[in-house]
Amino acid sequence: MGGGRLNGLVSVVTGACGGIGAAVSRLFTSEGSRVVLVDLNEEAGKILEKEIRSSHGDGSCFFMKTDVSDEEDVKESLRQAVDRFGRVDVVVNNAAVHYIESIFDTTEETWRKTMDTNLKSVYLFCKHAARQMIEKSIQGSIVNVSSIQGIRGGVLSAAYAASKAGIIGLTKALAVELMPFGIRVNAVAPRAIDTPLFRRYLERRGLTDEDVKKRYLFGRLGKPEEVAAAVLFLASPESSYISGEVLVVGGDF
Ligand SMILES: NC(=O)c1ccc[n+]([C@@H]2O[C@H](COP(=O)([O-])OP(=O)(O)OC[C@H]3O[C@@H](n4cnc5c(N)ncnc54)[C@H](O)[C@@H]3O)[C@@H](O)[C@H]2O)c1
Repeated sequence: MGGGRLNGLVSVVTGACGGIGAAVSRLFTSEGSRVVLVDLNEEAGKILEKEIRSSHGDGSCFFMKTDVSDEEDVKESLRQAVDRFGRVDVVVNNAAVHYIESIFDTTEETWRKTMDTNLKSVYLFCKHAARQMIEKSIQGSIVNVSSIQGIRGGVLSAAYAASKAGIIGLTKALAVELMPFGIRVNAVAPRAIDTPLFRRYLERRGLTDEDVKKRYLFGRLGKPEEVAAAVLFLASPESSYISGEVLVVGGDF
């Protein structure tokens, strides 16, 4: 069981049903936060909600079907969070899509879908969550999930890498803009984490487990729980003097 590092806090986690999102949601509830599980995938959301409630009680979380790229949906999920849990202290912007394709195959539609899901969503959640934090004088923490690709790009990933670089710019700008209200904004930039999203990337690039050993600093893929631990640190009061940072998880080598 956890050590209560988020005791009494309310967190919203987007993309909660994916590999990293589910690990963050499980860790946050075990550390004493109530969690709003935001995702488009209703079936997986209900399963995760049931699983977490069975360990931490019915009041520990609820699933909210939300399209993070839609402003009305974003506002509604935050409204529900405040109605049911009273406040929002932490937002983890983690939902994303990754179209693994060359720039020549990237259509305006996949470009827009990538930007809307990965970057516009972060702008929307930051804007509406921060407003609520300011109204309630909450010294909140926002953690945005970027990617190593947002720092140094990657193969077959023009739109994805651009969206993830955008998250870093947004994080740094908001760290400055929201500091007068005591709201911290940081990012994590995972590298190669064992989730369905990254497995698809390896497969599309024809990379094997042997390639993984040679290619990545740790000689293995990261676990979603290893990203969740970094997100927890940035979300919790333990990082009270850190804002505008990008924490690479997996080594920038
Ligand atoms: N896995 C990695 O190696 C890796 C590396 C760097 C960064 N990341 C980032 O970590 C985050 C989580 O990735 P993951 O590997 O767990 O991916 P994943 O595909 O397992 O999870 C992504 C989740 O986002 C949800 N989602 C997608 N579009 C949505 C929308 N419009 N509204 C609401 N939910 C939506 C999906 O339903 C899914 O549950 C992403 O931001 C990804 O870019 C992952």
